[in-house]
Amino acid sequence: MTIETSPESGPPEAAVTDGTTTTSPTTTEAEPATTLVGTGGEWWRSAVIYQIYPRSFSDSDGDGIGDLPGITARLTALSELGVDAVWLSPFMTSPQHDAGYDVADYCDVDPLFGTLEDFDRLLATAHGLGIRVIVDLVPNHTSWDHAWFREALAAAPGSPERARYMFRDGKGPNGDEMPNNWESVFGGPAWERTTNPDGTPGQWYLHLFDKSQPDLDWENPWVRERFREILRFWLDRGVDGFRVDVAHGLIKEAGLPDYTPPADAGSMGGGVVPVGLEPGIDSDAELDPPTPPYWAQDGVHEIYRDWHDLLAEYEGDRVLCAEAWVEPLTKLARWVRPDEMHQAFNFTYLSAGWSAPELRVVIDTSIAAFSSVGAPSTWVLSNHDVVRHASRLALGADNLQGAGIGPKSPGLPDPVVGLRRARAATSLMLALPGSAYVYQGEELGLPEDIYLPDEARQDPTWFRTHHEKYGRDGCRVPIPWEPQVPSYGFGLEGTSASWLPQPDDWDRFARASQEGVAGSTLELYKLALRLRAERQLGTGVLEWLPGYGENVIAFRNNGVTVIANMGETAVELPVETTPDGILLMSEALTEAALPPDTAIWLA
Ligand code: NOJ
Repeated sequence: MTIETSPESGPPEAAVTDGTTTTSPTTTEAEPATTLVGTGGEWWRSAVIYQIYPRSFSDSDGDGIGDLPGITARLTALSELGVDAVWLSPFMTSPQHDAGYDVADYCDVDPLFGTLEDFDRLLATAHGLGIRVIVDLVPNHTSWDHAWFREALAAAPGSPERARYMFRDGKGPNGDEMPNNWESVFGGPAWERTTNPDGTPGQWYLHLFDKSQPDLDWENPWVRERFREILRFWLDRGVDGFRVDVAHGLIKEAGLPDYTPPADAGSMGGGVVPVGLEPGIDSDAELDPPTPPYWAQDGVHEIYRDWHDLLAEYEGDRVLCAEAWVEPLTKLARWVRPDEMHQAFNFTYLSAGWSAPELRVVIDTSIAAFSSVGAPSTWVLSNHDVVRHASRLALGADNLQGAGIGPKSPGLPDPVVGLRRARAATSLMLALPGSAYVYQGEELGLPEDIYLPDEARQDPTWFRTHHEKYGRDGCRVPIPWEPQVPSYGFGLEGTSASWLPQPDDWDRFARASQEGVAGSTLELYKLALRLRAERQLGTGVLEWLPGYGENVIAFRNNGVTVIANMGETAVELPVETTPDGILLMSEALTEAALPPDTAIWLA
């Protein structure tokens, strides 16, 4: 695999650096282009994948929790939107202590969401519409309700049942000190003590997340075999792939040494280092920075090589996508080497601020890092764990991933600026080569629900941090379909129940309020997705365009010129721009200039 560099790279034009003057840039000179050479034509390399968070998408039975029949009933809306695939967050049997990321039976559907037959219908309907389906696999931990864990608790220390999980004796004379100092991602200690059948205190078990989510021991071949069976179960049913939860966490460093994370470590990451403003990785330390003993251990890779081979036995380019909060990107690229997973979420891109210099580096670094192993870059701005980008991009204060925002958070966003930036950010993202992930509701311009009542919050983060961190509920509120009806049509039968309350002022965000309305966020997404497909931007080559100034992102991809103004002053458009040449605008233009926080695509 090589990175191709365009030979005709001339000196950049006089760049606008002070943010006030504007030149008339032309689109004829390009900086070196980076592109993938020699990749295959698998669908996932360029796909737009829409994340469905089942409990908040569409509720068919009126219990206030979305379900599989609800999704099936609404799939045509996603086909009209123009996505290639959906990823379903977990709908398997679960006591729902972490909204389904605590699985009690990997091979069945939780009655909250329906049945296996409902899943088969959903899959068939999606496939009939040309939409592929990816399901969520949660291998790092099970629910404490899983039969494997119940059997382990009932068995004696040292038994094969206990060896499925990370049970350890406590330290100290009575074993009443935790085996090490690790902290749970959701706050508080990562160890819980068990009680013996005679009522005396017993061993401890590790839970990197909630205490209802005991970590499996992936050094144990028994665990590996069970997950091969689970993969086959869903592959045999016809799923197109898996999003793999906590794909950086399965193996823990031998001896489980103490570790104290830095104060600014994000929740799912713990070891995420900020991307510098200079492209290129120039030291081994940057290439392979020290990681916590529970993240990004080398031993995870043989598991994914095994899964790669298993998926390869099936027809149809099935895909594995890693949820791995690993930086730098050069290290994350190891998850998508040719014999491992196929994609990894690009959380470095998601974490970038509203800054053109920062984004330019992230985009370059992403394409270079993933290309070096023959993988496409992915791009993502929102998901069910982070503050929605229509709010995040206008935050006036840092917000750690997973921490959430609420009424008392510092630097609360201006919603108008947030939405404007989100529309520009998405317009930029959907023009990039590679595969893009879209989170349900962002196509409606939904902001984070900052004012959820405290008593409604359900995220374990909220409880485990004693309400210090609001957590992720604000991005999980059921989405609005129609204005002026109960639950904005989330309840298909006109029911008003909704597991998290919806704000009173969401009429304007409802899908039906935006359908066919020129300039609406929904129509912007539809247009971007249609043009992206027509112009094959997902498989294109990015060439930077110089001359627009420090605070502007400008590039060309498969004949489309993309300009995003992240500065504070308007930017003049290329002299040759005509109204007919404008393919897409994230905002209406004032004169022949691109206003701040706006992106445009030109033919
Ligand atoms: C990552 C998931 O996206 C998140 O929602 C979940 O809480 C953790 N993994 C634990 O499974």
